[in-house]
Amino acid sequence: MTTSPLANLATQTTELLAAVHALSTFEALREAEPFITGKRSILSTLQKSLGGLEPEARRAAGAQLQEARRTVEAALEIRRSELALAARAELLESDRLDLGDVVVSAVRWPASVGHPSLVASTQRELEDVFIAMGFTVSDGPEVESDWYNFEALNIPPAHPARGMWDTFYVEMGEPETVVLRTHTSPTQIHLMEGAVENGSLPIHSVMPGRCYRRDTPDARHLATFHQIEGLVVDRGITFADLAGVIETFTRKYFGPDISSRLRPAFFPFTEPSAEFEITCTICRGEGCRTCSHTGWIELGGCGMLDPAVFEAVGIDGDEWSGFAFGFGIERCVQMRHQIADMRALIENDVRFLRQFS
Ligand code: DAH
Repeated sequence: MTTSPLANLATQTTELLAAVHALSTFEALREAEPFITGKRSILSTLQKSLGGLEPEARRAAGAQLQEARRTVEAALEIRRSELALAARAELLESDRLDLGDVVVSAVRWPASVGHPSLVASTQRELEDVFIAMGFTVSDGPEVESDWYNFEALNIPPAHPARGMWDTFYVEMGEPETVVLRTHTSPTQIHLMEGAVENGSLPIHSVMPGRCYRRDTPDARHLATFHQIEGLVVDRGITFADLAGVIETFTRKYFGPDISSRLRPAFFPFTEPSAEFEITCTICRGEGCRTCSHTGWIELGGCGMLDPAVFEAVGIDGDEWSGFAFGFGIERCVQMRHQIADMRALIENDVRFLRQFS
């Protein structure tokens, strides 16, 4: 009697199941698969050997072998999904972003506290210099009617002097034209009107604030910038008082080796008018590229209040006289800290800003 080719099937199946169980990685499973259930497995070899059996015996053996194969294949599938899960868990672990670490190192950094911008801190400093000289500090609106920004300052509609200020218009015409103030001078008008109404003349006040011009920003201009305006209305005020205030301010703010000078100019709201210049802080007056080799840098405008302005606000020019001045705060910052490009002040590059904390 011939022994059945499947005589050892039970043992062989047990061995295959043990081999499946011993597979420890997904890779190993893929490599072993042909030897466990594939073409090179004992199961396939046995399958071929059934060909020599009588039909009846072959059918019985075939069913038996099929049963063994199903058992091994099922075990292999279970192992496959176990190893796939393990591989995925391992990947997740190695890719993990440990937020715990991030938080800990953030806490270890020294906490950084913000600080006022250079423009804001300069505005405070300028106010302090003028307060020490006996001035008060006043505030005015940034959105003004045409009357405050222009007409009351002796700049009638269509007057060519309007070309001095590139204006952002909020509203044109009826019922009135409204603009973003192009300078802090309109605050003078509010102040004088208020003083007339309250009978509170004289006035010695500075008015810092934000202004707007339809300018293309460059190294020395911004479309949004700050000015500080000065106004004195009192009895017996002369041009010498104006020159004295400008000079005192210049030395106090920029230092004793920087002085001021006044040069004839035109502004509709002052007569006579002047531009005021200070010693170039880059070359200390020697002459350099920044000051076009003149040794002087223009800071702002000033002059004696024009009778037309007194008339607009209802102040008696026979009893009172006064002067005004106005200059850019960013220009001051630039001169004081030797900043080549004014745009650095608004670009919020912390590497630049941190230098002034
Ligand atoms: N408002 C002028 C400007 O922005 C500057 C100025 C000039 C202000 C003369 C004044 C002044 O008070 O008297 O161009």
